[in-house]
Amino acid sequence: QELKLSLEQIEKGGYEHFMLKEIFEQPKSVHDTMRGRLLVDEGIIKMAGIWDHIEKFKNANRIIIIACGTSWHAGLIGEYLIEEYARIPVEVEYASEFRYRNPIITDKDVVIAISQSGETADTMAALKLAKEKGAFIYGICNVVDSSIARITDAGSYTHAGPEIGVASTKAFTAQLTILTLIAFKLGKHNGNLGNAEFMSLISELEAIPKKIEEVLNTTHELTQNIAKDFINATNFLYLGRGYNYPAALEGALKLKEISYIHAEGYPAAEMKHGPIALIDENMPIVIIAPKKGHYDKIVSNVQEIKARKGKVIAVVNKGDEQVSAMADYVIEIPVTSECFSPIVASVPLQLLAYYIAVYRGANVDQPRNLAKSVTVE
Ligand code: G6P
Repeated sequence: QELKLSLEQIEKGGYEHFMLKEIFEQPKSVHDTMRGRLLVDEGIIKMAGIWDHIEKFKNANRIIIIACGTSWHAGLIGEYLIEEYARIPVEVEYASEFRYRNPIITDKDVVIAISQSGETADTMAALKLAKEKGAFIYGICNVVDSSIARITDAGSYTHAGPEIGVASTKAFTAQLTILTLIAFKLGKHNGNLGNAEFMSLISELEAIPKKIEEVLNTTHELTQNIAKDFINATNFLYLGRGYNYPAALEGALKLKEISYIHAEGYPAAEMKHGPIALIDENMPIVIIAPKKGHYDKIVSNVQEIKARKGKVIAVVNKGDEQVSAMADYVIEIPVTSECFSPIVASVPLQLLAYYIAVYRGANVDQPRNLAKSVTVE
């Protein structure tokens, strides 16, 4: 028993929990996921899985992304990325819904499954169905040689390393990294992403691990302080627009998974169709509001919240003035192109969820009722 404990201590590398260790590993895991693929000096993205089947992608009627949980949130951001940069229509579905609704799939479809474990039963079954119907199936998995990695026609591994905490953190940002690479590669190849824009995007992507590092340094203590004020919260709303709408969903999922506080993510503009009814001085609202991406619209959303006395925790860019002036708590992140902002914005939201859960005494690495890998329906 003692030996086992000390081994676990070593594995945690000095961190109190695997989740915190994994949050802090993200500069490295994102970098590892790009390594050997993103060759900025040569101006290329090298991905054998895509390149060997480039005709399949080029001729695809559409791409269908299937996944569960956090991986599904990554898929939603993948839709924004692939549609914007490669102009290929994308649909994103929960694997469990897809497999039981007699979906229309043809041999002109490319189906991408995203799965950290590569073992999720619903994702696996959905893939088998797509394969039977003739689709080309592609996997984005973290666990090498997992069932999904083996059944797919091709794929790209996220090189996040083993993720032990049940709540996914570094696997999520690695999935976003792969989806970004795929979107840029396809867009460059099919001519929708011009060379100058491609070059500027990939140089910026290369610098993302540094920006994650910076965010870890500047928000670690801050998120602990904010967390202390919300230990007794019973509800949370997370809002974002565009690329940061799925980031809001993921922020809410992190909090509910590990702290057991009810949290909902919403596209900020949808707030007025329901959640606004819940807002009063007891409702904390996390709002992701970087400068690039619908900023003016977000400003009015924050005004609507403050008029109802909601407590605003805003994730904004360094130097932000308008939203910061209205917010009760301000978390600053560096400026990036909109498409990279979910990667950077997710980091303080992971930390916030982590510290709220820790202060509530919850078992963050193994939350009640949840499993790391769901191999049954
Ligand atoms: C479980 C895990 C989540 C994960 C989801 C999908 O619910 O607790 O963290 O996002 O399964 O898992 P996958 O391995 O397919 O990404």
